Amino acid sequence: MRSLIAAISCIAICASASALAQARASASAQGATADKSARPANPAPLGIGRAATAEEINKLDIDVMPDGRGLPPGRGSVAEGAKVYAEKCASCHGKSGEGATFERLVATDAGKNFDFATNAKLPRAVGNYWPYATTLYDYTYRAMPFMQPGTLTPNETYSLVAYILALNKIVADDAVMDAATLPKVKMPARDRFVIDNRRGGKVVK
Ligand code: HEC
Repeated sequence: MRSLIAAISCIAICASASALAQARASASAQGATADKSARPANPAPLGIGRAATAEEINKLDIDVMPDGRGLPPGRGSVAEGAKVYAEKCASCHGKSGEGATFERLVATDAGKNFDFATNAKLPRAVGNYWPYATTLYDYTYRAMPFMQPGTLTPNETYSLVAYILALNKIVADDAVMDAATLPKVKMPARDRFVIDNRRGGKVVK
């Protein structure tokens, strides 16, 4: 794949077809090691810029894994989340997550047997389709509100997650979400997904 990419970028920059032929020949002749050697060497540093600080890296390092790794300190309750939601989310997602101009966030029906593939009327939402509660934290913190992503604090995000999970009847109305409690929430769709352990080749189309 890499040598294909190298060949394609070569198409863009090579002046002559013979250079392309040469690149192909050398890539196939060198086999696996062609990947690295076909790439041009890094240019000399220009002497501009500086190393990113730990604080700058931390700001960008916001991914949360399914098992909760990456969740920041903080906490939030369902009641707190209801307030933030009314102010920052309801206009697009509906007063109680039922959906308005945009996606609904609440759905409890997954059909008799998780029939999403055959029943187009089943809405896919947090409550009936998402396998991990932690993804709700990652996504909300990263991407919402739609027009002001990156503006929520961790406490606001934990409270919103608590509120949305409560609307979906997954946690109790007095639940508090934090880095310890959130990964323990078992989503109804949790066992409907499997890890994709295919290794490439013919099985991957
Ligand atoms: C301006 C409108 C708008 C506001 C305000 C907004 N959202 Fe969204 N939200 C969207 C849109 C549009 C999408 C779909 C984005 C996409 O598919 O790329 C979305 C998707 C989502 C999803 C994923 C839904 C799914 O199942 O795919 C969640 C969860 C969510 N928003 C939570 C929130 C929360 C929490 C807030 C308040 C902090 C919020 N949103 C505020 C427009 C909005």
